[in-house]
Amino acid sequence: MIDLHSHVLSGLDDGPADLEGSLALAAAAEADGVSVLAATPHLRADFPRVSVRETAARCVLLNQHVRAQGDLQIVPAGEVDLLWAQSASPEELRLASYWQRGTDILLETPYGPLASNFEELIFRVTVQGFRVLLAHPERNPTFQGDPERLTSLVERGVLVQVTAQSIASGQRGSRSRRLALDLVREGLAHVIASDTHSATSHRAPLSAGVAAAATVAPARAQWMVSDAPAAILAGEPLPAPPVEALTPRRGLLRRFRRAS
Ligand SMILES: [Fe+2]
Repeated sequence: MIDLHSHVLSGLDDGPADLEGSLALAAAAEADGVSVLAATPHLRADFPRVSVRETAARCVLLNQHVRAQGDLQIVPAGEVDLLWAQSASPEELRLASYWQRGTDILLETPYGPLASNFEELIFRVTVQGFRVLLAHPERNPTFQGDPERLTSLVERGVLVQVTAQSIASGQRGSRSRRLALDLVREGLAHVIASDTHSATSHRAPLSAGVAAAATVAPARAQWMVSDAPAAILAGEPLPAPPVEALTPRRGLLRRFRRAS
């Protein structure tokens, strides 16, 4: 599996405090079946120790340690705050992108109600040539109450990352779990990621998210941790998603049910 969202780098944000914690996180990811893990430290004003110019070197260093214990590969990226993105230089945005290719970027969905100009802020990033992967929109109360606002973004080319924890461990009937499962079922989410912060944080591992997603879209669940994230890391168009043998149930977003 490929995991496009983690806070594996230590001493920077709300990830591990030290190298030992990073190595424990990496070992847990590999034991869960992850072969490639994106390091996505918060690029956000309240985490001033994160420097986008240091991410690649930190990944090189961590990979040297990780290789001593297994085969996991860690690649540089960032979890980009929308306001940070507005003031970042083109070079800083490139350094924040997956594998620093300048093609795909992970944008953090705010936790509170969305401002009316949220979409405009996203498109200020896309017009600079980036494909946006929106991190965990299922947790946002505005999207939970108005999912069509999210489907509009998807129709305009924004990709959606749902978090394993939301699908696997959210309380039955919780709004984030319901929205995440609807998004998977209706082909409106493209990636499942762990957003893991430590080996001991009790978040659901990626495999648990895939297993939960597989209850509504088994073939797509696998695609969301393999073919789709591979294309994002490569900066290439997403391959066609698999056709499900199951008939989708009616969901919140049924108007938008479609193949991709
Ligand atoms: Fe995160």
